[in-house]
Amino acid sequence: MHRLFFVFSVAVMMTCSATSAEKPSTAPRTAALPAASDCSFGQPPQRRAEGCNRALARTINFGNMLDTRRLGMGPKLRDEFITLSKAAGFTAIRLTVRWDAHAEYKPPYTIRPAFFEYVDRAIKVATDQKLAIIIDMHHYTSMNNRAKTERPRFLALWTQIAERYRNAPATVMFELLNEPNGLHTQDTWNQLLPAVLKVIRASNPHRTLIVGGAQWNTRVALETLQLPADDRNLIATFHYYDPMETTHQGAEWVQGSDAWLGAKCCTQAELQAIKYDFEEVEQWAKAERRPVLLGEFGVYSKADEKTRVTWTTAVREQAEAHGFSWAYWELASTFGVLEPATLTWRKWLLKTLLPQSPVL
Ligand code: BGC
Repeated sequence: MHRLFFVFSVAVMMTCSATSAEKPSTAPRTAALPAASDCSFGQPPQRRAEGCNRALARTINFGNMLDTRRLGMGPKLRDEFITLSKAAGFTAIRLTVRWDAHAEYKPPYTIRPAFFEYVDRAIKVATDQKLAIIIDMHHYTSMNNRAKTERPRFLALWTQIAERYRNAPATVMFELLNEPNGLHTQDTWNQLLPAVLKVIRASNPHRTLIVGGAQWNTRVALETLQLPADDRNLIATFHYYDPMETTHQGAEWVQGSDAWLGAKCCTQAELQAIKYDFEEVEQWAKAERRPVLLGEFGVYSKADEKTRVTWTTAVREQAEAHGFSWAYWELASTFGVLEPATLTWRKWLLKTLLPQSPVL
């Protein structure tokens, strides 16, 4: 999550939040730990989506491993990452995958079999470990630049992925597209959704699917996201990085973010804004009867440790208080909670996510 446009919308969102200051606060609740049987094919769709969302209660993003243009640009995906995540107490992993960079550009847009094998392996190891796993379509930049002409390729990629994993357990979930943005507006996304749901549902009629709105999956985009009312087996997702000055200080991919270096977390007003934002998402979720996953949140490693701890704890607690599952961004790269070279946890950060972790 990044970009200048976003800075503007954050300012607008903060203003909107401030106007809702008189809203009653929500009493904190603790997210229930998932029961394995809650996420299975033997239940009605709405209950399945809710049960599978509980299986995502404490998820860790496996960012920058398979979502890069070329493999090897980030940490190499290792089985130990999965087993360590399980041992620490995470309940699921969100595997961010840049499918488009590993597929042909001409019909039938074949995904390279050798690339599929990395995902096969992650699904197998996660499932053996009784972890749920989200298979996400990540960093699909061509969709943001030319969503309409890229549409056949996008649908063909999902056809292949869905067919390959049609027999996977219910704890394997698909997330349709990470952070649509740019020219891929809410309108184009709303128009594309029925088509992609149709191709996936052709081979996976009962699988729980995860969908966020456009505008980088921000919470405000949920308001105009058009989910089909008759598909109850969906989890809605949003990403949260507000204020960007805190979470993306010094981030190389956000223009002007060096000016934010040293930003602390958080003023009372900022903490209130976070709370109101989450209350608004809960109101939306209740009205729409959709379970919600906070699919990304975190602070870049250039912020000081105290700021990272305070912000991450505040946001994680808000997610749990509002009954959302969450997925921290991310395991072993620039926001990482694990030191990849030594396979050791940054305990001060892990504690913000899993205070009861047996590895602390
Ligand atoms: C992107 C990452 C980025 C993170 C935080 C994710 O959606 O895939 O590249 O580091 O957001 O900005």
